Amino acid sequence: MNYNINVTKTDASRLSSVDFDNIPFGRVFSDHMFIADYKDGEWQDFRIVPFGKFEMHPAAMVLHYGQAIFEGMKASKTVDGKAMLFRPEMHAKRINNSAERMCMPAVPEDLFMQALHSLIDLDSDWIPPQAGSALYIRPYMFSMDEFIGVKPSQTYRFCIFTGPVGPYYPKPVSLIAEQKYVRAVKGGTGEAKAAGNYAGSLLPAKIAQEKGYDQVMWMDGKEFKYIQEVGTMNIFFVLDGKVVTPSTDGAILKGITRDSIIKLLTAKGIQVEERPVAIDEIVEAHQAGKLEEVFGSGTAAVVAHVEKIAYKDTEMMLPPMEERKIGAMIKEEIDGLRAGTIEDKNGWVVPVKSTIMENA
Ligand SMILES: Cc1ncc(COP(=O)(O)O)c(C=O)c1O
Repeated sequence: MNYNINVTKTDASRLSSVDFDNIPFGRVFSDHMFIADYKDGEWQDFRIVPFGKFEMHPAAMVLHYGQAIFEGMKASKTVDGKAMLFRPEMHAKRINNSAERMCMPAVPEDLFMQALHSLIDLDSDWIPPQAGSALYIRPYMFSMDEFIGVKPSQTYRFCIFTGPVGPYYPKPVSLIAEQKYVRAVKGGTGEAKAAGNYAGSLLPAKIAQEKGYDQVMWMDGKEFKYIQEVGTMNIFFVLDGKVVTPSTDGAILKGITRDSIIKLLTAKGIQVEERPVAIDEIVEAHQAGKLEEVFGSGTAAVVAHVEKIAYKDTEMMLPPMEERKIGAMIKEEIDGLRAGTIEDKNGWVVPVKSTIMENA
């Protein structure tokens, strides 16, 4: 289906005020945004408008009951300057999985795609051409009913805005295995990218930082025995030459980078074991000198190497960076796919193509 997206262009582009060599993360927003409203049981009023503020009713349900979900993805430029998206249909599917769990309406996948492509095409000059830089894309949905009382809203807004981000080269991170708070439990909302999951993670993250660790390693909520994720990333271990990652069990976010890493490694003949990973196994592997690598995976960093892990009163130091093969190789491969310097055999890298141009 072809959706009619009404476009109002800004007459005051802010692009020339942005220094692409020095972009503060998360604070610079591109010229336009896409908005659709859900009322009377359907999505309507598709529009791209100049980036700007919303007016909120004080009783807007999202402000009270937190029906809000989001995605995080990136557009980048290949070395020959073409705008590309990475596995965008996976994000369309995931936002709808999140919507289902939070009792919100699905966004038709073709509407998501047309809105995304048209918006990115219009603001494609905002994609930094510098290697490793990208245009961060934030699709999200929230409830709009002006009503006090716990029930699903009847009205929603779906938006996409974007902002340029510089290269993300995190220094190796230190983790602390959480022993009190949980991010998610089976049957909860951990598999959804629901705003409330992130609110609940702030206090344990703050406490971890006060203790001197960069991020929380989330454990299962029943026994605090099995590892789930780290911060806002999935986690991989290399144990005695084998790559292992926790199996998604209903409490772990199904990361698109995680899925890409598993598929790329498998294609190279490196088997990835998806299974429950107990912290005791990691401690034993470390004691035996077999904990070779630990890295987080996510859209922002692609791969973030782990320097050390604290668990109860022990601290496990990981081997030096020069000895780590798998994490570095896979980051290089995903960066190369995005830059168009490595052949994309999976059809993951999708050229940006507006549907609005065709209508005009
Ligand atoms: C809790 C959580 N886990 C994992 C990830 C990594 O997911 P992806 O690789 O799709 O960015 C994210 C980021 O979206 C996240 O918020």
